[in-house]
Amino acid sequence: MSQKSRSDRKQVMNNTPETIAVATTPRGEVSLRERSDDDGSVVHELVVAGVFAMDSADTSTETALAQRSLERVAAPTRVLIGGLGLGFTAWQTLKDRRVRDLHVVELEEDLVQWARLGLTPTLGVLARHPRVTLHVQDAVSAVTGDDEPAGPWDLVLLDVDNGPSFLVHEDNERLYCAATLSRLLSQVTKGGALTIWAAQREPALLATLAGLAPTEEVVLPVERQGRPFEYALYIARP
Ligand SMILES: C[S@@+](CC[C@H](N)C(=O)[O-])C[C@H]1O[C@@H](n2cnc3c(N)ncnc32)[C@H](O)[C@@H]1O
Repeated sequence: MSQKSRSDRKQVMNNTPETIAVATTPRGEVSLRERSDDDGSVVHELVVAGVFAMDSADTSTETALAQRSLERVAAPTRVLIGGLGLGFTAWQTLKDRRVRDLHVVELEEDLVQWARLGLTPTLGVLARHPRVTLHVQDAVSAVTGDDEPAGPWDLVLLDVDNGPSFLVHEDNERLYCAATLSRLLSQVTKGGALTIWAAQREPALLATLAGLAPTEEVVLPVERQGRPFEYALYIARP
C-alpha cells in the first residue's frame, strides 16, 4: 500500500463516527458519537429517539436561537432553555453575563449524566457552571408551570424538536398548540420573549403565536452537505 492510500484510508476511518456513549430509553436509542472533521478537529454527533439530532460541525442556528433572542430582551436575568442537546444554545446564553440564572430542561436523563461526566467540552462546562442548573424533565410541563423549574422567565428558548410539521417525538405535539403556548406566554415577564427553533418554516405555528402575542419570524439559511435549507426562529414578545 502506498503512503497516499494509507493516509486516505486513515481519513475515511477517522470520519467514521465512533459511539462514545449509548443508552436505550422508552423513546429509542440516545447516543453520543465522535468523528473527525475534514481539518482533523473533533465533531460530536447526537442521536435521540434513534434519529440523528445534530452535530457540532455547524451550530450556527443553535447559537442564533440564543443571540437573536438575547438582543431583543433588555433584562434577561432568568432564562429557561428546553432541550440540552450538545449544549450550544445554553453555552451561547451563558456568554451573556446579564443572564444570572440559567435553567436547562432535558428529557433524556442519560444525556444529562453524560454532561455531568464532561463527555464533550461544552456539556462539561455547562454541568459545572454556577449560573446553570440542569434538570431532567419534560420541557412542556415545565414551561406551562406544571413542574419544576417554576417561572416567571425573562426568556424561554425552546429547541426540543424539529417543529410541529416534522416531529421526532410525537408527544411534543402538545408544545405547539394554542393552549400550551398561551400558558407558556403567561410565564414570560413583560419585556421578555419566547423563542421557538424550527428545522423549517412553520406558517401554522407563526399564525398561532401571532394570535397570542406580537411574533417575528427569523429565517436562517444554512447549507448542509452542499444542500440549502431554511431553518427558522419564532420570537414572541408578550
Ligand atoms: C436538537 S437537540 C437541542 C440542541 C441544542 N439547542 C443545542 O444547542 O445543542 C433537542 C434536545 O431536546 C431534547 N428533548 C426532546 N423532547 C424534549 C422534551 N419534551 N423536554 C425536554 N427535552 C426534550 C432531546 O433529548 C435533545 O436533547
